[in-house]
Amino acid sequence: MQDLKNAPIGIFDSGIGGLTVAKAVIDALPHEDIIYFGDTARVPYGIKSEETVRAYALQITNFLLKRGVKMILIACNTVSASAKEEIIQAAGDIPVLDVITAGTRNAVSLPNHKNIGVIGTLGTVNSRAYVEAIHAFDTTIKVKQQACPLLVPLAEEGWIDNEVAIQTLHHYLDEFKGSGIQSLILGCTHYPLFKEIIPKILNGEGVEIIDSAESIAASAKAKLAELDLLNTTGGDFRCFVSDRPQRFHELAERFLGRSLSSVEVVALD
Ligand code: DGL
Repeated sequence: MQDLKNAPIGIFDSGIGGLTVAKAVIDALPHEDIIYFGDTARVPYGIKSEETVRAYALQITNFLLKRGVKMILIACNTVSASAKEEIIQAAGDIPVLDVITAGTRNAVSLPNHKNIGVIGTLGTVNSRAYVEAIHAFDTTIKVKQQACPLLVPLAEEGWIDNEVAIQTLHHYLDEFKGSGIQSLILGCTHYPLFKEIIPKILNGEGVEIIDSAESIAASAKAKLAELDLLNTTGGDFRCFVSDRPQRFHELAERFLGRSLSSVEVVALD
């Protein structure tokens, strides 16, 4: 058991967006070793078919399993929407948590929240995975979804509060005005970067913002405690990517909130 306690947590995403999840996990579990994989050569997943996303996600799962992770966190909403079951099966005894389940649990646990908004990539929204997950708890909850594809490139460009970002956010979020949503799930790795500005765009309608990155970090902590697998002596962060884009370090820092010491480029089998 001691060995497993010291094993790393594996976190993966289609690219560097999942570093928002890594950041939340580091904040919640500072003594865990973490292996992060970002599929920077094949990002974005949000516009790809479910079959393609599944095949990519299983390759990454095998990569993490070979490195002896004690838990896998699916940081990517698009992967959570289309490949969760296959990953759980491939992982065997290793627990797998995903952002959609975690974000949903958080949203439905808010007292009297019967009207929930969800924003995500086209893949996530078209899959209706959040709608199904919410309705698995309570079929009477109204769910309104909105795909916001331009927010991913804007976040990667660092355009999170300039004129273009504000106009784009209005374009997407004005759809929610008058809908009576009580909470809004940020159903994409990149959206936590807009967390400060979204309530202003929604015009202070008192909408609770659900950050799935924070939700999955809290779920991971609870699951490790339940399995008696919490590490108290670690804290390493290793980052693997399938390609190193230009400005990688600058971008990574924006999502992780701190600089990255090492990044290893690997080819997946
Ligand atoms: N990581 C993806 C997600 O959370 C966003 C980027 C992409 O489309 O690959 O859905």
